[in-house]
Amino acid sequence: MTNLNNIVNDIEQYLKHQIEEGETNTEISQDIMEKLSNKTIPKTTTTVSDSTPATPTAPAKPAPTPTKTAKPATAVKVNATGCADMDAITLKISSCTQCSLAKTRTNTVPGQGSNSPEIMFIGEAPGAKEDEQGRPFVGRSGNFLEKMIVAMGYSRETVFIGNILKCRPPDNRKPTQEEIDICIPYLKQQIAVLKPKVIIALGATSVKGLLGKTPAISKLRGEWQKFEGIPLMPTFHPAYILRNQSKKGELWADLKKVLTFLGKTPPPIKKQ
Ligand code: URA
Repeated sequence: MTNLNNIVNDIEQYLKHQIEEGETNTEISQDIMEKLSNKTIPKTTTTVSDSTPATPTAPAKPAPTPTKTAKPATAVKVNATGCADMDAITLKISSCTQCSLAKTRTNTVPGQGSNSPEIMFIGEAPGAKEDEQGRPFVGRSGNFLEKMIVAMGYSRETVFIGNILKCRPPDNRKPTQEEIDICIPYLKQQIAVLKPKVIIALGATSVKGLLGKTPAISKLRGEWQKFEGIPLMPTFHPAYILRNQSKKGELWADLKKVLTFLGKTPPPIKKQ
């Protein structure tokens, strides 16, 4: 049985995260809204999502005129099917207590980026900064990853960045196989919804989580693999490159293979 207070805290955390991300609307099904407020929601507080056809309903009664003391109504998108898929997955992640990492995390880190990315970068697990902010790759490795993305002609907003685990392992230890097995369904669901053209697996844990393979990343990198029909390029983790700058050329060769596959040429490198 899940404690209701935990669910409320997790939903609050998720919504705060959405606001920090600049979201002003969220999609909540009419059914849930009614359960939450225990009454029919006045039409002024809802907007019907234009992307999903709403179930035909009886003509709406005229909306009650808001009183002067009422707070401005927050627009809540409501559609017939409920939450958009990615939002639903994010919400599930935010209230996950399936492994012990739920006890030590500050925030879940579901991933971030475009909802229709050409490229999905998958790392290992959140670190301290990511756990603090609820966003992936925001520390030193994140800065380097962002440089890689920009060098490829993309931005953080046009790709999707995620991890094998959605919660930080204490002391940044490697994820255990049990944690990977428990968490991987979330990533699989995200991949199924986002349908990237290419997955770039960053480092050995990412390859292990996605492909179940454990050869040295130096052996597997640069060789196309497939994850559920999607081309997957294994390469070094940005943290490894920060410690081994001599491997940058190999990393770039792998990224160029991805660009060639996508029919892109990297933009010219800007002189600093
Ligand atoms: N930050 C992440 O989000 N993932 C990693 O694998 C490393 C740092």
